Amino acid sequence: MKHNYFDSFIDEYAEEQEKIQPEFYKNAAVYINRIIEQSPSNCRVLDIGNGGVINYNSDAIGELICADLSVSNKAVKKYELKKNIKFVVGDMLNLTQWKDNTFDIVIVQTVIHHLADRRLNQTEKNVSRGIEECVRVLKPDGRLLIIESTVTKWFEKCERIFYPVMQWCFRILKFDTVYQYSHYSLVRKIKMMGFLIEETDEVQLDKYVWIMRKKVPTCLTPCKACWICVKKSKK
Ligand SMILES: C[S@@+](CC[C@H](N)C(=O)[O-])C[C@H]1O[C@@H](n2cnc3c(N)ncnc32)[C@H](O)[C@@H]1O
Repeated sequence: MKHNYFDSFIDEYAEEQEKIQPEFYKNAAVYINRIIEQSPSNCRVLDIGNGGVINYNSDAIGELICADLSVSNKAVKKYELKKNIKFVVGDMLNLTQWKDNTFDIVIVQTVIHHLADRRLNQTEKNVSRGIEECVRVLKPDGRLLIIESTVTKWFEKCERIFYPVMQWCFRILKFDTVYQYSHYSLVRKIKMMGFLIEETDEVQLDKYVWIMRKKVPTCLTPCKACWICVKKSKK
């Protein structure tokens, strides 16, 4: 398991997000809630890379497992009376503690860009592996709900051209190794992996975005966000 950038502030993370971009989390929840509310009340849900953030209707879920490389003790305390919610350690690249066909829904909210590696080809492999793992643990007809932080197409082109330089800058700034897809190329990647995209849309960001624990005006960034709902086929 790689060192987790979020380790040292995982307890503060959810509150920081709530303060900086509350509207974004509400907008994302509209998409997630619609799928949860269509599912049976005893549905089993895995939220991988949860970070202590539950912005959707957890009361409509039979069993919610919030997994992450680091578990937020604050979140454990906050939700201790909710018997349907459990926080555990889990790695999206290796969900071996769960068998195939376990969950009705898997939620992956703003995690994919953190699966990056120092080398672009390994980043592509990690993202493929992460998505494959999520689909593996889904039941047939189950849904993978992706809310992802993306960038404009032109910015992604720059990221690809200057990949080593950008990763070097992130190291100097003591930031995580990250790579953000454009909405277009993330959709294309998932389709090329052979998965069925049932729905996709742009998610409205807030006035500010959270970057390296700072509140940055969204209009000064190439940031966007998207929703992708993948349905696992019966076969
Ligand atoms: C930007 S935060 C998103 C947290 C939360 N889902 C949200 O919507 O705000 C990224 C989270 O992904 C987690 N993470 C990064 N790599 C992961 C991996 N391989 N497996 C599981 N979680 C991972 C980090 O610990 C962090 O909590």
